[in-house]
Amino acid sequence: MALLDLEGLSRRFGGVLATDGVSLQLGAGELLALIGPNGAGKSTLVNQLSGALRSDAGTIRFEGEDITALPQHARVARGIARSYQITNVFRRFTALDNVALAVQARSGSSLRFWQPVARERALFDAAADILRDVGLGARMDVPAGALAHGEQRQLEVALALATGPRLLLLDEPLAGMGPDESETMIALIAELKGKLAILLVEHDMDAVFRLADRIAVLVYGRVIARDAPAAIRANAEVRRAYLGEEAASEAAP
Ligand SMILES: Nc1ncnc2c1ncn2[C@@H]1O[C@H](COP(=O)(O)OP(=O)(O)OP(=O)(O)O)[C@@H](O)[C@H]1O
Ligand SMILES: [Mg+2]
Repeated sequence: MALLDLEGLSRRFGGVLATDGVSLQLGAGELLALIGPNGAGKSTLVNQLSGALRSDAGTIRFEGEDITALPQHARVARGIARSYQITNVFRRFTALDNVALAVQARSGSSLRFWQPVARERALFDAAADILRDVGLGARMDVPAGALAHGEQRQLEVALALATGPRLLLLDEPLAGMGPDESETMIALIAELKGKLAILLVEHDMDAVFRLADRIAVLVYGRVIARDAPAAIRANAEVRRAYLGEEAASEAAP
């Protein structure tokens, strides 16, 4: 059984069918990259998965359960997390404080039998572990607002990990990053790969082909190909619809 199973998922915005009958499966620990031209419906699909957008048609099954109609918080509780932009970070709190709060939100009542001091220790220990995992071990005590751009994106991933996900949704995690920051983020994603399933939307084809176990190509809301990276690279329809265009723009001066 697939961890995530999408069947015929669609979403319309007025006259635009942003996603049009998308069927995809994602196995536990697998990294599926979703690529395609601007406006293809990639972010729409991520939002349908996270629960930020309702779907007009189709079903989303997660670990066998139909979650199509579940609100966002219920999906987070089941193990689907997305990395958000920095907007829901407390900028004056340290990185550690921010992650500890996120861990607390996940833990809910599970810590209620602990003494307050032990509870706080457990929260901060868990938060510190997560920050070390994302490469911010040396930056825990820095206010979130004072972190460099790339570090803030690492913190966003830490906040998503704090919810204990089995599926992580990443929509353009490399956007706006310089080469060094990109390398750090790519290494982090490579590190997470296999431990949890990842749906990665990204325009950086170098990163996509380095990281992906499988690649799905979305064009005008439809999946035109889904395959191993080498097969996608060799696919004439994909080259025509997307990769050719990317290669051409990279070759341009
Ligand atoms: N909230 C919205 N209201 C109206 N139309 C929308 C909305 N969100 C997306 N769309 C439209 O749906 C289509 C898919 O957009 P989407 O943002 O999902 O594409 P994308 O593949 O993520 O593109 P990009 O690579 O540029 O991020 C586009 O035509 C877009 O204009
Ligand atoms: Mg998008």
